[in-house]
Amino acid sequence: MIYPIVKYGDPVLETPAAPVTEFGDKLKKLVEDMFESMYEAQGVGLAAPQIGISLKLSVIDTSFKEDPEAKLVLANPEILSVEGKQSGGEGCLSIPDFRETLPRGKKVTIRAQDINGNWYEKTGEDLLARAFQHEIDHLNGTLYIHHLSSLKRDMMRRKIKRLIRQGEW
Ligand code: NI
Repeated sequence: MIYPIVKYGDPVLETPAAPVTEFGDKLKKLVEDMFESMYEAQGVGLAAPQIGISLKLSVIDTSFKEDPEAKLVLANPEILSVEGKQSGGEGCLSIPDFRETLPRGKKVTIRAQDINGNWYEKTGEDLLARAFQHEIDHLNGTLYIHHLSSLKRDMMRRKIKRLIRQGEW
């Protein structure tokens, strides 16, 4: 099932999500639906709050279907370490048609549970490191817009408010 993506302005996106506690068939179906919804929206990462489900659960595929091993399920993820810095453009499916330059850590190690509830650790660099930080932010109710300067953030908010008024958001 393909879920519609919740857009910026919906409070679910700025609410810390609840931990995943049940690893069963229902979660497997949800993860399947999240991958499907993410691919449909042309994304490389999707967090459950973005489909209106306030759970600490994200999916990532920085290869966009090219490499089955790049498909990652992050349940209850935490960042263990961040090394170095990278600068680059970042967008979010919940803030469509916007993209901003945002510094992030270059090499990030996380700890998370997989689809079966088993804990694993994984280190990602560059795009994967950025995806780890972006997705884990989502689960804490943080959007990339929150990391921008207040000047840039206000500019984006004004543009989005105008789109909302015009019925285009
Ligand atoms: Ni996002």
